[in-house]
Amino acid sequence: MLFCLSEAIDLISPRLNCHHQKVAYLSYRLAQKIGMTEKEQRNILLQGLMHDIGALSLDERLSLLEEEPGMTSSHAFRGGKLLSGCLPLQSLADGVRYHHIPWNNGQGRYFNNHPVPMESHILHLADRVCASFPNTPNILADTGAVLSKIKLQENVFFAPEIVSALYELEAKEHIWLELADVAPLRLLPEAAIDDSKIGLDSVLSIAKIFSHVIDFRSHFTATHSAGVAHIAEKLAEQAGMDHEERKKILIAGYLHDLGKLAVQGSILEKPGKLDYREFSEIRSHSFYTYKLLNMIGGFSTINQWASLHHEKLDGSGYPFHMKAEQLSLGSRIMTVSDIFNAITENRPYRKGMEKNEIIGIIKGMSDDGLICPYVANILLEDIDFFSSLSKATQKLAADDYDKFFRDDDKIAI
Ligand SMILES: [Fe+2]
Ligand SMILES: [Fe+2]
Ligand SMILES: [Fe+2]
Repeated sequence: MLFCLSEAIDLISPRLNCHHQKVAYLSYRLAQKIGMTEKEQRNILLQGLMHDIGALSLDERLSLLEEEPGMTSSHAFRGGKLLSGCLPLQSLADGVRYHHIPWNNGQGRYFNNHPVPMESHILHLADRVCASFPNTPNILADTGAVLSKIKLQENVFFAPEIVSALYELEAKEHIWLELADVAPLRLLPEAAIDDSKIGLDSVLSIAKIFSHVIDFRSHFTATHSAGVAHIAEKLAEQAGMDHEERKKILIAGYLHDLGKLAVQGSILEKPGKLDYREFSEIRSHSFYTYKLLNMIGGFSTINQWASLHHEKLDGSGYPFHMKAEQLSLGSRIMTVSDIFNAITENRPYRKGMEKNEIIGIIKGMSDDGLICPYVANILLEDIDFFSSLSKATQKLAADDYDKFFRDDDKIAI
């Protein structure tokens, strides 16, 4: 699951070229070299996959490429904050939180009296190495120059023990050739990957963290995934779905717009009508959701419910143009919930709609054979309840959003 989600965050910035996988790969190799336990090696690999999770905009991501080493960047603290709020990922939080703390002749063992784990210093060095490599097919020719640049910053930014480990790796061509590969982690031995199974509750809590990564890119969408998830869950309950199915529908709701990470922020924030090219880019997002979730074992139902939310019963939706008989109850619920939330929310180009307008749109689409009349009726029969649930969920998510950015300066604590 983390593998898929790291690929999703790399979609924000194709120029960064599978940055997360590369940092994960090199961190793992360095941890191995300095003799960390296998458990620690597997943990640092996951930290590498998640290390820039707190950089939410494209500008912020690109600035990470040029950034001077040793900056205590707020994206790292924000990443630590996101991960520490998620029980199954808490063990990744500190390593990520401090991954830009300079070694500073050993003073970097602590930051504001908090111990900085060695993992952070490994991630820091691996991150700088990966950001320093020019995009060249001849990595072996460039390794020497990149390592010399790192060596100049030994003790100031990087821990000497880790710089030595890096130099020990220098002579091994396969390490650098693997690092240059499009999918370096696939080239690691199986034991490197933590493939333990996790339960639905853990999946749900990871999905919720990712809904923030998806939604917090624009304050107009800051609460969208949470709103879709909770309305869908209530519709599912009234349609008779059991407890486990409702958890799955919550997960699908949180992740339904995962593919929006591939859409430029300027398009999401555009205050006017989208032109043809911009709309085409938006239209690709549910396909990317499908492609990404397809990588996760055991996710086929969740994927179907999440990524078919722009399909219509008459086959006029996208991207698969499925027809009524191919769209399951869960997918139909997600579509209705997505439309309902989208028209309720304020967007850069219009205010959220009022009750009568909402009823008109949902009823119209149902009568025209676009959305499921059974699900639409559940919503319309209890429209006041669903409207207040939507407002309450969005209010909670908006508070999370404000808190997330408001505490930016205090995130080190
Ligand atoms: Fe970073
Ligand atoms: Fe990075
Ligand atoms: Fe969507």
